[in-house]
Amino acid sequence: MPSEAETEVSVPVGSDADIIIARQQGRALAEKAGFSGSDLTLVATAISEVARNIVEHARRGEVVLRMIHQGDKRGISIVARDEGPGIDDISLAMQDGYSSGKGLGLGLPGARRLVDEFELESSVGVGTTVRMKKWLNSHRSVAKYR
Ligand SMILES: Nc1ncnc2c1ncn2[C@@H]1O[C@H](COP(=O)(O)OP(=O)(O)OP(=O)(O)O)[C@@H](O)[C@H]1O
Ligand SMILES: [Mg+2]
Repeated sequence: MPSEAETEVSVPVGSDADIIIARQQGRALAEKAGFSGSDLTLVATAISEVARNIVEHARRGEVVLRMIHQGDKRGISIVARDEGPGIDDISLAMQDGYSSGKGLGLGLPGARRLVDEFELESSVGVGTTVRMKKWLNSHRSVAKYR
């Protein structure tokens, strides 16, 4: 059995360089979990988007990457959390093309489409947590917002 230290990576995120580290660590862990080919790019892209949102909208936070198992399913879990300003209108933030700044507004809805499970929890003044899971050889997709 691999130890938890081998299957969990926590990346503090506060700069563009950290976004690249989170992306690389996620890609490496996904490869270890058995993902290959374009799936590695999809995982890395979802991680970049939520990490970039931390830097752009909350300044700092962390991305926790884990290898996960459920029954005989294997996959990767990505949790991005910050104690930034939070999101006032979550359904608006999830719309393609909505940005409170000068972004394209494609980060959150794009990430949501790249993974199998997507949860966004956010409170104004408290912070934001995005939880994503991607399973090996999976095609279903579920999203929850609170
Ligand atoms: N971690 C966060 N903290 C606070 N607000 C956030 C956070 N992540 C996203 N948001 C809000 O949700 C909106 C939509 O996010 P999304 O990533 O889709 O677009 P964007 O970051 O504005 O632009 P893009 O990602 O296309 O460059 C943001 O404009 C911002 O208002
Ligand atoms: Mg974004």
